[in-house]
Amino acid sequence: MDIKKIVSEMTLEEKAGLCSGADFWHTKAVERLGVPQMMVCDGPHGLRKQDLAADNLGVNVSIEAVCFPTACALACSFDKELIYKLGQALGNECQAEDIGVILGPGANIKRSPICGRNFEYFSEDPYLASNIAASHIRGVQSKNVGTSLKHFLANNQENRRMTVNAVIDERTLNEIYLAAFETAVKDGKPWTVMCSYNQINGEFGSENKWSLTEVLRDRWGFGGFAVSDWGAVNDRVKGVDAGLDLEMPASGGVNDAKIVQAVKNGALSEEALNSSCERILGIIDRYIKGRDNNAVWDKDADHALAAEIASQCMVLLKNEEGILPLDKSKKIAFIGKFAKEPRFQGGGSSHINAHKVSDAVSAAAKYAEISYAQGYRTDEDVTDEALLSEAVELAKDSDIAVVFAGLTDLFESEGFDRSHMRMPECQNELIAKIAEVQPNTVVVLHNGSPVEMPWLGNVKGLLEAYLGGQAVGEAVCEILFGSVNPSGKLAETFPKKLSDNPSYLNFPGEGDTVEYREGIFVGYRYYDFKEMDVLFPFGYGLSYTTFDYSNLRVSVSGCSAEVKVTVKNTGAVKGKEIVQLYVRDCESSVIRPVKELKGFEKVELEPGEAKDVTFSLDRRSFAFYSIKTHDWFVESGEFEIMIGKSSRDIVLSETVYIEAPDKMPFVCTMNTTIGDLMQIDCAEKYLGKLIEAFAGAMEGNSDGDEMGESTKLMMEHQLRDNPLRVMVSFSDGNITHEEIEEIIGKINRELNN
Ligand code: BGC
Repeated sequence: MDIKKIVSEMTLEEKAGLCSGADFWHTKAVERLGVPQMMVCDGPHGLRKQDLAADNLGVNVSIEAVCFPTACALACSFDKELIYKLGQALGNECQAEDIGVILGPGANIKRSPICGRNFEYFSEDPYLASNIAASHIRGVQSKNVGTSLKHFLANNQENRRMTVNAVIDERTLNEIYLAAFETAVKDGKPWTVMCSYNQINGEFGSENKWSLTEVLRDRWGFGGFAVSDWGAVNDRVKGVDAGLDLEMPASGGVNDAKIVQAVKNGALSEEALNSSCERILGIIDRYIKGRDNNAVWDKDADHALAAEIASQCMVLLKNEEGILPLDKSKKIAFIGKFAKEPRFQGGGSSHINAHKVSDAVSAAAKYAEISYAQGYRTDEDVTDEALLSEAVELAKDSDIAVVFAGLTDLFESEGFDRSHMRMPECQNELIAKIAEVQPNTVVVLHNGSPVEMPWLGNVKGLLEAYLGGQAVGEAVCEILFGSVNPSGKLAETFPKKLSDNPSYLNFPGEGDTVEYREGIFVGYRYYDFKEMDVLFPFGYGLSYTTFDYSNLRVSVSGCSAEVKVTVKNTGAVKGKEIVQLYVRDCESSVIRPVKELKGFEKVELEPGEAKDVTFSLDRRSFAFYSIKTHDWFVESGEFEIMIGKSSRDIVLSETVYIEAPDKMPFVCTMNTTIGDLMQIDCAEKYLGKLIEAFAGAMEGNSDGDEMGESTKLMMEHQLRDNPLRVMVSFSDGNITHEEIEEIIGKINRELNN
């Protein structure tokens, strides 16, 4: 396609028309110029291709497809290659179905455990979220199919998601909420990015020039088109000017007419409209060139892949007395409706019409004879006494009870947030009653986000299966019976209770305003700083084997470092370990988290085998976002490199010195404090004079007594926060205003040289 030529030949009306959908799922064709339509579909964890009645709530039927594990599960694999493989499968499915762009992945941060859409998001940690998203994108796009990284930006709640204004300070935006998208954009290079419904600091995501143009394009080099979330457009003309290229779905021509009008009356430049058209055509061109008419998809093969992926994502959270893997010679009962009808995906636009679903009861037949009782209902949260007592009786008669529980669609979905973090009471009651009669109780959870677990102390085993996709039953059985060794680790903290969460006081905000007052202290960044007990920490997960870490080696060169550590499988079975690297700035001029994830690798080891795991740290691994320089900043000094089995289980660490060339701009004024001057090399020679002047004044007032060392020290402490201007009044005439001004002048001149 000669894109420039096509745009130059398009009428104003055609150009405006191209910037909105033909219908719910297609871009517009410009037939006379040879531009075809392109179909897009949801995403992110399978194809929701709708043939007839279209909607964005996942209500109307779509083609039969394969539902892979949802994002909340995928992230727990910490496995970039695995996610890439998932992406390849999705890309291939899109090719076979002639889909140009699949809508996803979603990289938004899990700010609160009760956001209804957390199951579609990866993590509370931006490094993990962004790297997993990048792998997903690369995988899909390796098949010449586009992705739509969503929902940019700060769509961290469902409550009033279409109107709410997320008020977020600059540093928090950069270190947490933008960072979740940054690597996904820079490394993943998504064909498209989908803006969020909400406002960010007073501007809708669909018309926010700062996020869509300054950050996305100018700073990060995004080259594709930006599309609105479905129905996210508020002021279309402002949107085009801000860099929102495509409005979805169709606007019935209303907004196209507004664009035409605005160009005619000069309110919108035609160049802006041309740029949007060029970007849309650029992607349509890639779609046409990348079409693979021979692509076929084998749903059963993808189902098998979904099972493999699910088994790599599950997190073993408790395994007392080695209750798992299950002893097949024992009488085993599977209890709970989810054992037969697993909840494997969330509600809303990502809802897949799964071509088949594997349940644990059927999947278990391969391993052992098990018995089953339903235990609870899912249509409402009331205890069904008959089901409950049947289940308790079965548990009593068995050697081991495995209870399948979790959240139902009534509890969590796109479109609304949870109001609490509890599981259905009927399920809590069931687990408690089973545990009373059966000491060997294991719980398997199907949920999209953390829950409170009042029964945790009374069960021996706990497997977090999340919403594991349509093959979840097979995967759960592989873990339960030990044919796969669990290797997932939590991509989010499970707090003990909702009120422990840092966003608790300000979630979901008041009316249409939500202030992110916890700032950068999201997830473990907060719990660690507060030294707060949590139910399960970020990065936590058990295995059927054990790993030993040794030989940490760090070699530093300027602002980068290479880190190596040896990991050995010291147990009896093959297993995979997720090695996590965290960085701590030992001393900083700004408030920083106690540790931040800056690397992770998954390594597979045979029993007795040892491997070196290598990490590369760059400038960014040590940086914070400075609101003074409006850029990333590394402060020279000591940093601790920590290697952990989880965020709360650091097994090796080394402190290194990082020498950074970054200089913080500094202008000395009358309001500069003595403490601030102490940080400036060239000011050192003047400090003595200032302190002496002050000390002189003290001596003058101290009835001639010699000033003791401790008094001097105390004075230094007290002086630290005094600005230069008060030295005049406090030094009893020992130093004058003019003398201080002279010092200020000298310091500033030296600093500028
Ligand atoms: C959702 C998007 C989705 C779109 C299309 C919106 O309501 O927020 O994630 O891709 O609908 O279904």
